Amino acid sequence: MPLKKDIVCVCFQRSREQIEKVIRKKNLVRVLQVGDAIQAGTNCGRCKPLLQQIIDDIYTVNEGLFANTDNEQP
Ligand code: FES
Repeated sequence: MPLKKDIVCVCFQRSREQIEKVIRKKNLVRVLQVGDAIQAGTNCGRCKPLLQQIIDDIYTVNEGLFANTDNEQP
């Protein structure tokens, strides 16, 4: 039996991979939107900080591609 790895939302058995996939596919930016999409975070709420961290990770990486370089020293 395969291990259930990377489960972020225990209540609904949602993995980090599933959560990242739906965030990217639907361009979700808020934890509540993730809950509406795949229920994660809508029961006990313990996973909400992790959901926010995943959102932050995804958009921080994307922001890095468009980082403002105006403040760079010559
Ligand atoms: S662990 Fe995600 S709602 Fe409970």
